[in-house]
Amino acid sequence: MSVLRLTCSPRGADSESHRLSQFIVDGLARVDAERGHDLVELDANRLPHVDAEYAWALGSSRDPDGDPSGSLHQSDRLIRSLADADYVVIATPMHNYTVPSALKVWIDHVVRVRSTFSVTREGKVGILVDRPVFVAVSSGGLFSGPDARQPDFLTPYLKAALATIGLKRLTFFSVEGTAMGGQALEAARLRAQADIAAHFAASPFRADLLSA
Ligand SMILES: Cc1cc2nc3c(=O)[nH]c(=O)nc-3n(C[C@H](O)[C@H](O)[C@H](O)COP(=O)(O)O)c2cc1C
Repeated sequence: MSVLRLTCSPRGADSESHRLSQFIVDGLARVDAERGHDLVELDANRLPHVDAEYAWALGSSRDPDGDPSGSLHQSDRLIRSLADADYVVIATPMHNYTVPSALKVWIDHVVRVRSTFSVTREGKVGILVDRPVFVAVSSGGLFSGPDARQPDFLTPYLKAALATIGLKRLTFFSVEGTAMGGQALEAARLRAQADIAAHFAASPFRADLLSA
């Protein structure tokens, strides 16, 4: 099986979200052990913003002739790595109530008219085959539950953006309140790890996963 892990924190592999995502990667490896384990790592912070040619191509009715270069070429490669993955794991912090700019850059490269979605009378229709996407979120404060004191634009935005290209099977796990540190942070980590373990132990999930 092939897992694409997208790391979006500027802290990379040292980040809380990356740490949380490792429990998901390990869970997938256990549940789908028979097929072996091919982990493709992508650091979203290394991606440049889309360029002028890309913006032109997305605004026009057809792609430019000839070999793609710049962002179009980058976009082709990113879409291919996404299409090739059996599972996608996104490790991301919350930045200013939503996704960090690095994750937004990846989205700008993979949500691409004529390549990953079509425009119809009914609206945008995804082209990619659906597959499980797991999102490991880390946030300084709380964004869910009765004690949340800030809006959450991350979860609905990511659902909407990925649904546009056909990816609708999203599952979120989060370590919230990292700014509290100490025992509160440790408790949040343990809760998230328990959520992940319960998710991978659940039999409907296993059936769903093995048929992916
Ligand atoms: C630019 C920036 C914006 C942030 N905005 C928020 C925010 O809106 N809400 C929040 O709870 N935490 C916010 N934080 C805190 C991070 O979400 C928190 O430190 C998180 O644990 C970082 O995860 P990481 O280690 O995976 O990068 C922000 C941090 C940065 C650097």
